[in-house]
Amino acid sequence: MPTLIKGKELAQEMREKLGKRVEKIKNITGRQPGLAVIQVGSDPASSIYVRNKQKACQACGIKSFGYELPEDVSQTQLMELIDTLNQDEHVNGILCQLPLPDHLDEFAVTQSILPDKDVDGFHAVNTGLLSMGRSCLVPCTPAGILAMLKAYDIPLKGQRCVIVGRSNIVGKPVAQLMLKEHATVTIAHSRTRDLPGLCHSADILIAAIGKAHFVTPEYVKPGAVVIDVGINRNEAGKVVGDVDFTSVASIASAITPVPGGVGPMTIAMLLENTFQAYLKQNRVNEEQVDL
Ligand code: GUN
Repeated sequence: MPTLIKGKELAQEMREKLGKRVEKIKNITGRQPGLAVIQVGSDPASSIYVRNKQKACQACGIKSFGYELPEDVSQTQLMELIDTLNQDEHVNGILCQLPLPDHLDEFAVTQSILPDKDVDGFHAVNTGLLSMGRSCLVPCTPAGILAMLKAYDIPLKGQRCVIVGRSNIVGKPVAQLMLKEHATVTIAHSRTRDLPGLCHSADILIAAIGKAHFVTPEYVKPGAVVIDVGINRNEAGKVVGDVDFTSVASIASAITPVPGGVGPMTIAMLLENTFQAYLKQNRVNEEQVDL
């Protein structure tokens, strides 16, 4: 059996530690970190994600400010809210849940959040810094993947990493993080020639495709590490990943489950990013909150 990379357990440990750091800093500064979460419309999946993010904040002492805007909110109204939150010193991080309805300009919205409050790491300043290997707010899912690989002592230096999916949220930023760790990185996508063959060359395979059970054993080299970013629903309504877990687990050396793998780590990293944003905005050194 492969090593099961238990994101849920690791995320829980990280959240407990963060809760203690938040408590310590509140006693020093007298201020509580705050995260604003904006949802436009009422897509059921987005509502679940947003609720989970808000609950996680409260559980570790971060104040969450929720904004539920109607589906037909105008671009101007949304930008005005973000402008107000940019200026609000109780709000250290701002997250606008994606996707947005078609009439809204997603790029303009993500770029209107101040880079220092951009806890999603979607602003061009943060993506630029990330691509230069500099310190910045890093997108949460990629940051969570790296945290898992490190926690499980999975070697990255010189390893061949194939990422399937070229999104700005996962594929591109996780490629930058893996490069920084000296992995040899290939980003593949739906137009890639001989996708199974390319994936089969990977020591570390990261699947961010959005298709249930897409990755089967013919994509996986025996002994490879497989990270499944997918959150799909099958015909029975059950949450399943991009990887056909049962068949792939029989040949991988380590694998993340779905649910309980990458998903909980994404939330833990959002909390960590909010805390980092708070520290920077309040000019607090990391050492002052060491436990
Ligand atoms: N929608 C899906 N994933 C994400 C994410 O990480 N952040 C935001 N804001 N929206 C998302």
